[in-house]
Amino acid sequence: MTSFLFLRSLLLRNNTTTWIVRVFAVLTMLTMYYSCLFSFLQTIIVPVSQSPTTLIIKDSSDLATETNHLATSTTTALPEYDLLWRVHSTPEAAAVAGRWVNRPNQALQYSAEHLQCLDLERQGNCHDPDAWKYSNDKAKQSRHRAILKQAVANSPGILNASDPWVWESDSFPYQVLPYHVEEYKQRVRRLLHNRTIYLVGDSVTRQWAQVLRCELLHILDFTQEQAERTIQRMADFCGEELREVPTTFLQNAQPQDYLIINYGHHCGRGVKGPEWSTNYTKLMSHLQDISYGLLPDTHIFVRTTEPRHFLRGAGDWNTNSSQAGGSQPNMHAKWSLYGGNSPEQPMQNKLLLRILASEKRRRNFQILDTAPLMLARADASFDGTHFCLPGPHQLWSQMLYHRIEQE
Ligand SMILES: *[C@@H]1O[C@H](CO)[C@@H](O)[C@H](O)[C@H]1NC(C)=O
Ligand SMILES: *[C@@H]1O[C@H](CO)[C@@H](O)[C@H](O)[C@H]1NC(C)=O
Ligand SMILES: *[C@@H]1O[C@H](CO)[C@@H](O)[C@H](O)[C@H]1NC(C)=O
Ligand SMILES: *[C@@H]1O[C@H](CO)[C@@H](O)[C@H](O)[C@H]1NC(C)=O
Repeated sequence: MTSFLFLRSLLLRNNTTTWIVRVFAVLTMLTMYYSCLFSFLQTIIVPVSQSPTTLIIKDSSDLATETNHLATSTTTALPEYDLLWRVHSTPEAAAVAGRWVNRPNQALQYSAEHLQCLDLERQGNCHDPDAWKYSNDKAKQSRHRAILKQAVANSPGILNASDPWVWESDSFPYQVLPYHVEEYKQRVRRLLHNRTIYLVGDSVTRQWAQVLRCELLHILDFTQEQAERTIQRMADFCGEELREVPTTFLQNAQPQDYLIINYGHHCGRGVKGPEWSTNYTKLMSHLQDISYGLLPDTHIFVRTTEPRHFLRGAGDWNTNSSQAGGSQPNMHAKWSLYGGNSPEQPMQNKLLLRILASEKRRRNFQILDTAPLMLARADASFDGTHFCLPGPHQLWSQMLYHRIEQE
């Protein structure tokens, strides 16, 4: 404003100043105005038009150098990916995506049979402190040792199988089908009718498959045979078995079925070393070359990978110094807090978004973005990488149900 007044006084002044000086001053002033206006516009427009590649390189994460080679590739995020990109680019991502709220009456109630069903999953039982005694399972022994060392912490609801925290969001991709006893049962039975949910991924996906099956059996009154037919899971850690997905796993898939794929933990630095991103980029790209039988692309979800809840720099599953977990959900948790010795998030998920949003060869896949909400749930960690059952996996199911129902 002051410079505008100065400009005006310059034009109106009628003294000794020569015309040349006046014209020069006016031009300089206008140039300043335009460059100010331009940089202002840039700050408000950038989130939509800036290439994710540039953002990756600017990211201050210690992984930035590993993704430098991506600087030469060209890609533009499409509008529907912008929200997800923004969430993953924000340190406190859970708070941008939605919120965990303490609402015991909107959380599933677990019967004794339901809990027994969940206990069949080897990396899930946190509600029975003696679980390690009646099993030689290494996973249970390892959690027990972590507890003795006070290396893993959980919230009270997670420890007594009545987690009161439910997720809610105002943004479509992060919304969940809310749990209201009778109505919920009918809605979920209807949306799963005559469908199979195919899951491909590592042990965290295996846990989720069991959470889904147990819900079908003990909340939705499916028979054992129906539950097993409806929820099918194939183990694949980092694409080693991808070739088998269309030929074997999906050979009976029908157009109304759904596939949810996740690759992440076994494709990170801890397993693949410092060059992990080259490998991961190729795998994500390869997902787009495959035909998934009769399944339409819109029924194929790629699920993002939750952070590993070991404190960054404080050891990992194979060190004595690790620290994992928390005593309640933490909406202010940052990506940089976690990852132990394999801190690939949020970089790995951003690579996934960048590759699937690339304009070239783009397929109509959907993203099931479970990572941001899990950032806040270190308190539900079984051992740093897996989750306690019952726990927040349930909300992944409700997020998927919401998407299927909206279809
Ligand atoms: C679980 O623990 C919480 C907090 O200590 C308590 O409020 C709740 O009643 C307990 N629930 C059960 C089923 O024991
Ligand atoms: C289930 O879907 C198949 C097609 O995939 C169809 O042939 C069959 O009639 C459906 N069954 C019911 C009970 O809707
Ligand atoms: C991925 O990593 C494995 C080793 O973990 C390596 O053998 C393989 O060649 C890599 N693949 C690509 C495409 O870089
Ligand atoms: C971890 O601690 C145990 C005993 O507490 C010890 O025997 C073992 O060597 C330690 N391992 C490492 C990697 O420090």
